Amino acid sequence: VSLKPYNTFGLPAVAGQLVRIRSEADVRAVVDHPELGLAPKFVLGGGSNVILTRDMPELVLKVEILGQRLVAETDRAVIVEFGAGERWHDAVAWTLDQGWPGLENMALIPGTVGAAPVQNIGAYGLELQDRFESLDTVDLVTGRTVTLNAAQCKFAYRDSIFKRALAGKSLITRVRLRLPKPWQPMLGYLDLERKMEETGNRQPDARTIFDWVCSIRRAKLPDPAQIGNVGSFFKNPVVTPEQCRDIIARDPHVVHYLLEDGRFKLAAGWLIDACGWKGKTVGHAGVYDRQALVLVNRGGAIGSEVQTLALAIQESVYGRFGIRLEMEPVMV
Ligand code: EPU
Repeated sequence: VSLKPYNTFGLPAVAGQLVRIRSEADVRAVVDHPELGLAPKFVLGGGSNVILTRDMPELVLKVEILGQRLVAETDRAVIVEFGAGERWHDAVAWTLDQGWPGLENMALIPGTVGAAPVQNIGAYGLELQDRFESLDTVDLVTGRTVTLNAAQCKFAYRDSIFKRALAGKSLITRVRLRLPKPWQPMLGYLDLERKMEETGNRQPDARTIFDWVCSIRRAKLPDPAQIGNVGSFFKNPVVTPEQCRDIIARDPHVVHYLLEDGRFKLAAGWLIDACGWKGKTVGHAGVYDRQALVLVNRGGAIGSEVQTLALAIQESVYGRFGIRLEMEPVMV
């Protein structure tokens, strides 16, 4: 089975076997199967956070569990539940249509609901963990259903237990989100402040913020349906005040933000841009010309070319700034 249509970078990898998972019972059927049960497994959602550098001897489980429902509504929150195979952006749009705001800053993030907790997706001042209630997983060895709360998911910046101890060991089937009441807009992010200036609208409702986020993202991030990509390719590095001072000494323009714990977050896109990578091409992979943090498929790229380009970028940023950039997507 070709995985090319199932990864947003459009990389040509072949899976020996692919099983579509449409329910919890489908997962248990795989686990209980005499041969499939023992095979090493790889869980695939929307394929928007993986770089496939080889064919897959693993059994690929493609999660297609659908559905959305209201779980509970109190005067403090609305709790909603989604099947892991729902598209994240559609889930955001559905909650707004129901009159339940709270996810609008995370509009247009590619991928599925089930993949969202894996890397604790985030954008424009909001992360999944800020709206997370709980999720259900099926253990791929025992077939047992386990419900995890936020603490058990070990969320961190673009990270969770599903990228670490539970990688390949469990499959997320359903995710519940908590939308706090009363709704409060999150407008602290620079790009949103600019929209408020531009439009003169200082009290945007959730639908307006949703539209703004969509237009900001469309302007600087490539649409995977047109240009293969996996969003940001590197995490924004976090450094100590001393390291930050050292980097400012190397270049006073470096974009940096003070974090609550006293450390500084650097804009990886700026570091890569400063090394001259924006718009560059190596083989069939390249650096997007409107956002240096995004690597793109120029057409016909293979995983090893993406890997080579990523390494070259890491080396030049390290050489110039002494910073090791960490990759965001999962490299297979
Ligand atoms: N910058 C440059 N040159 C570039 C790109 C960025 O100088 O080529 C500078 C910008 O001028 C800006 C700063 O870097 O001052 C930050 O850029 P931006 O606001 O575009 O955000 P980012 O830090 O590059 C992060 C997330 C995105 C998320 C946006 C908005 C990470 C790794 N990326 O990007 O998430 O959408 O903030 O919140 O944290 C993703 O994870 O896939 C993703 C797209």
